[in-house]
Parts: sequence; structure tokens; C-alpha cells
Amino acid sequence: MAKDPLRTKLCDMLGIEFPIIAFTHCKDVAVAVINAGAFAVLGEAMHTPEEIAADIKWIRERVNGKPFGIDLILPASVPPADTLEQLIAKIPDTHRNFAQSIKERYNVPDPKGPIALHQWGGLNQEMARAQLDVVLEERAPVFTSGLGNPAFILEAAHARGIKVFGLIGKTRQAKRELEAGVDAIIAQGYDAAGHTGAMGTFSIVPEVVSIAGDTPIIAAGGVTTGRHLAATLCLGAAGVWTGTLWLASRESDVDMIVKEKLLAATAEDTSYSRCISGMTMRTLKCPWTEEWARPEAPLPLSAPYQMLLSSDYIQGANDHRREDLMTEAAGQGVAFVTTMKPARQIVFDMVEEALAAFEELTGETL
Ligand SMILES: Cc1cc2nc3c(=O)[nH]c(=O)nc-3n(C[C@H](O)[C@H](O)[C@H](O)COP(=O)(O)O)c2cc1C
Repeated sequence: MAKDPLRTKLCDMLGIEFPIIAFTHCKDVAVAVINAGAFAVLGEAMHTPEEIAADIKWIRERVNGKPFGIDLILPASVPPADTLEQLIAKIPDTHRNFAQSIKERYNVPDPKGPIALHQWGGLNQEMARAQLDVVLEERAPVFTSGLGNPAFILEAAHARGIKVFGLIGKTRQAKRELEAGVDAIIAQGYDAAGHTGAMGTFSIVPEVVSIAGDTPIIAAGGVTTGRHLAATLCLGAAGVWTGTLWLASRESDVDMIVKEKLLAATAEDTSYSRCISGMTMRTLKCPWTEEWARPEAPLPLSAPYQMLLSSDYIQGANDHRREDLMTEAAGQGVAFVTTMKPARQIVFDMVEEALAAFEELTGETL
């Protein structure tokens, strides 16, 4: 009988059935994916240390000893410990005025409360460190660094039995992290949702595979179908890391208005810009992204200042559920997310479609 192409070294490392990783902010999605035989990583960059500890406990109670991951961002270039107010005071008037002009033109409502960034790991290094300490204390089975090199935490993590994965968008970042001894690399291409670099998935994955030796490389960026999964395994990846795929799942806590936008969106409905966070990021197009793309717009600020500027728009839109203004991080693979399915079904459909693709290619029954 032919070898199961979906049984990869990532499956062996994590003790999972299918080489699929869901990145999600929703605990219900994470638990459904893990219990379907795949793996999930919960994005916790926006949470306080206390919330992170509670979430780790919540997941542990529902997955019967199966592993899971926690994702944080470790941005090296943000200020050490400035408060939200100190950071906001540094935003230049040109940018403040441009943001205000968008607000007036589109009648963007004020957020219902203070902007919820005071606990964001991207705000200052002190916050990121406090979040990381909880992951170490709670011994989450896997820690993933969504931004920034996790080399400095490897020894402490490994001493506690925690595996460390680094997410990269450039081959030289992968090289540095491989040399430091990370347990796996997520090689993410330009198609991806959220912060992403300029190299395409088809370029970055095989390039990183070629320097990785035995370390598993996980492909990310635009993976939303079983055919994508099969293709990335052919590129030498040991699995896939997916974000957009889960946003409109039944369990997802994303607002129904945004879910409907995602289900209707094509790749061309996404924008790749620094205008939301100061770092290149792919999101659904919205008035904010369109206005900052105009030639007369100022150049976006660096992180975290641009995020402080955009969060008034984003939170105002979300708090008042303004369909015409709302946006969300979304990758180009959103084009293939067309129906709202339970997360468990998404896993099984992806596996079935990947196996069918391999059968089609080889003529063998798997
Ligand atoms: C709504 C959303 C928020 C995201 N936030 C983060 C984050 O906080 N940290 C991170 O490492 N990646 C984040 N990502 C990126 C994902 O980890 C993943 O790399 C990306 O979604 C993969 O591309 P895909 O969306 O085409 O599957 C986010 C993705 C989405 C869809």
C-alpha cells in the first residue's frame, strides 16, 4: 500500500493525525480543530497575562491531553515601556488630521470605550515579556512567535518541555532561527492574512526547506483548500499553517457581518498595506485602506504608532457594526472560503481533498 502522504514529520513531532495547523483567536475553533485530529494555536497577543493563563487552562480542560500552541508577537523595534498615552502623544499632526478627515468623510462613529490596545504585546517590550512569562510558567506545549526572533527564549522554553516555532517571511530570518535551534519554522508567503512579507508562498517555502535539514517547515499564506495542502507538501513542507480558513467557520466568534463579507470576498478584495499597523499587513479592503492608498495620503507611521491611529477607526466600526466600514485580516485564499462550516468539517474536507489530489496524480488509492 502507498505511504500516507499526509503523515509527515510534523505529525510525529506533535502526535497529531493531520498536518494542519489552525491559527485562531477563538478558543472554540482551536478546541474543535484539535479534537478533529489537527493542531491549533491560539493568538494571544492582545491579551493580558491573566487572560492568557485562563485560556491555557480552558483549552487544557477540553482537549484530553492533546497538545496546542500559544502565539505571541515579540517585536524588537517597539519602545521599551511607554504607556498608551505617551505613545499617542507622539503621533504627528499631519497623520492625526488625515485620520480625522477619513472619520468625517465616512461618518465613522467614535468607539464605545477607550481603545483596547493597552494590553497589546506590540505596544511595548515590557508587555510582550509579561505575556511570554505566562506561557513559560503555564508550560503551553508549543510557543509560536508571530513576529520577532524567539532565539532568546529557546533555552527557557526547552527546559520546560515547550517547543518553539518561529514564523518568518524572509529566508534570512529562517536561517537565523534555524541556527538558534527552533523546533519548526512557519514559512509564510505574501498571500497570507495579517502581517506578511513580500515573498510569495511558492518562493519562500521551497527556499526555506532547502536550508532546514530535518527541521519541519510549515507552509503558510493562501492555504485554504486540500489542493493547497497537497501542493505545499510537494514543495517540501511538513504541514500547513492557516488563518483565513477559520474566520468564517461556524464556531468562530468573528462578527456575522464580517463573516458574510469574507464568504463573498475574492483575492482582489484584500489590501496589502502598512496603513493599519505600520507593518505590511493583508486585510479586507475598507475605506481606511482605500484612503491611505491615495497618492495624497501621508506615508503610514511605523509600529506601534500607525496601529494607535487606525484603532480608533477599527474599533468605532466594530463597536457600531458598520458593515460599510468593517474590516478583518484576510489572505488571498479567502476566495475559496465560500460556505460556513464547522471547524471539524473544514479539517476533514481539507484532508479528503488533499488525498484526492494525490490519488489523481499517482493513480494510487490512498
Ligand atoms: C484575523 C487574523 C489575525 C491574525 N493575527 C495574528 C497574530 O496576532 N499573530 C500571528 O502570528 N499571526 C496572525 N495572523 C496570521 C496567521 O498566523 C497566519 O500566518 C496567516 O493567517 C496565514 O495565512 P492565511 O490567512 O492565508 O492562511 C492573523 C491572521 C488572521 C486571519
